[in-house]
Amino acid sequence: MLIRYKKAFEKIAMGLLSFMPQEKDLKKLQQTMLNYEQENDWQLFLWKDEDIVGLIGVVIGEEAIEVRHISVNPSHRHEGIGKAMLRTLSDIYSNKMLKPNENTAAFFEKCDLNNKELDI
Ligand SMILES: CC(C)(COP(=O)(O)OP(=O)(O)OC[C@H]1O[C@@H](n2cnc3c(N)ncnc32)[C@H](O)[C@@H]1OP(=O)(O)O)[C@@H](O)C(=O)NCCC(=O)NCCS
Repeated sequence: MLIRYKKAFEKIAMGLLSFMPQEKDLKKLQQTMLNYEQENDWQLFLWKDEDIVGLIGVVIGEEAIEVRHISVNPSHRHEGIGKAMLRTLSDIYSNKMLKPNENTAAFFEKCDLNNKELDI
């Protein structure tokens, strides 16, 4: 299930974020975490089964929700978690369009969110 980020999850969140190619630099990663902790329109969610194994971060705009970060623990990839996070988020923000940025577009497009026949 998708849960909201809180400070107690900072280390695991930073670990997951660091799997994004754009977040390899520690300073950049720390700034990204600060944005999620301090900016109202930056929202971070974690995917928890038994453990926390995924992360999805968005920026809330007037009309659209921009997916800035999406990451799954390498031991849990190809289990549908990435896609489940996108689908759950699009349900939470059902009044707004979900869109990727340049760093999440490849996976976002692969998931084809508008095709309900492929629901998992
Ligand atoms: C992208 C990511 C979150 C997918 O998580 P996941 O839980 O394995 O995703 P799902 O199980 O829902 O879907 C797996 C499918 O997505 C595909 N996929 C994985 N990464 C992809 C990418 N960067 N671009 C396009 N498709 C991708 C897989 O090849 C797989 O396709 P298949 O079923 O045809 O083999 C995960 O690979 C990850 O954390 N990558 C590192 C972080 C990253 O680069 N994020 C930005 C991605 S654009």
